[in-house]
Amino acid sequence: ASVVQRLWRGRVSAGMLSPRLQRAMKDYVSANKHHVSYTGHRRSSRSAKELLCQMKAQARLRTVDGSEQPFSSLGWARLVPPRPLEHLRGRQDQSSFQTCAVVTSAGAILRSGLGKEIDTHDAVLRFNAAPTEGYERDVGNKTTIRIINSQILANPKHRFNTSSIYKNVTLVAWDPAPYNVDLHKWYASPDYNLFGPYIEHRKLHPGQPFYILHPSYVWRLWDVIQGNTQENIQPNPPSSGFIGILLMMALCEQVHVYEYIPSMRQTDLCHYHERYYDAACTLGAYHPLLYEKSLVQRINTGPESDLRKKGRVTLPGLGTLNC
Ligand code: C5P
Repeated sequence: ASVVQRLWRGRVSAGMLSPRLQRAMKDYVSANKHHVSYTGHRRSSRSAKELLCQMKAQARLRTVDGSEQPFSSLGWARLVPPRPLEHLRGRQDQSSFQTCAVVTSAGAILRSGLGKEIDTHDAVLRFNAAPTEGYERDVGNKTTIRIINSQILANPKHRFNTSSIYKNVTLVAWDPAPYNVDLHKWYASPDYNLFGPYIEHRKLHPGQPFYILHPSYVWRLWDVIQGNTQENIQPNPPSSGFIGILLMMALCEQVHVYEYIPSMRQTDLCHYHERYYDAACTLGAYHPLLYEKSLVQRINTGPESDLRKKGRVTLPGLGTLNC
């Protein structure tokens, strides 16, 4: 069976990847750029319910709120939006969104015709620079939240300040700190400098909800992946995809994820909006993508036919669980 067929059904391992991707993975494991040292347990036998409850308990959604140094001295308590991200919700009388869609940027979503279905959700999360214009039939056109990595803020080619992609949505940015979450070190040398552009954007558009994820949230998500995988996963943060899925599970009662676990349209085309081919985008090199996807498959409550036809996973919101 192919790696994707195995992803639909269960256990995967790095040994199923091409020699090139296996080598890339090994190089990242030995480089250990973020100084990860994991001392927790590794269990690969948790049930779906146990996994969900572990996610709920160990990975509480958290953003930089200006209460810790160095951010407190820099006046960030007054810079960040007054309303916490956790309170983002559909209607005034509700505590969370009812149905949410997470739309990955995978090439496999091309010719899916999923746009209408995606837009029926109360909230739609998209990633980085992925456009909707020109792709509405396949990806829809509604965007509620956009999660962006620090490269979007730091690299002028993305035109963060002027592109319409980043307007009229809630923005959530992230950047990997060292694994020990030393906020002073992180502020002094982020992976890509997001702090300057963030401050500038907050001052220019104070009414737009714009948050930075707390790096401890990102690493506690990583811990959940490693803690449920026997192999050594890449010591790099989870992909934006995994972070976005868990974010929506914190904000919504039900989450549908599209083309994270690939459908039968699976392709090496990296993004639906770019002519660039690399299997690493789907199976991982830098990010522990294969293991993330295996974990998400284990908590999927939808049928295998949804995976094949729509690349669709169905997940419960964390707030609906009785743990
Ligand atoms: O490439 P980018 O990070 O912007 O894509 C958003 C997310 O979509 C990724 O972090 C990954 O989780 C998912 N993705 C995928 N397969 C692809 C491309 C993206 O699973 N081919």
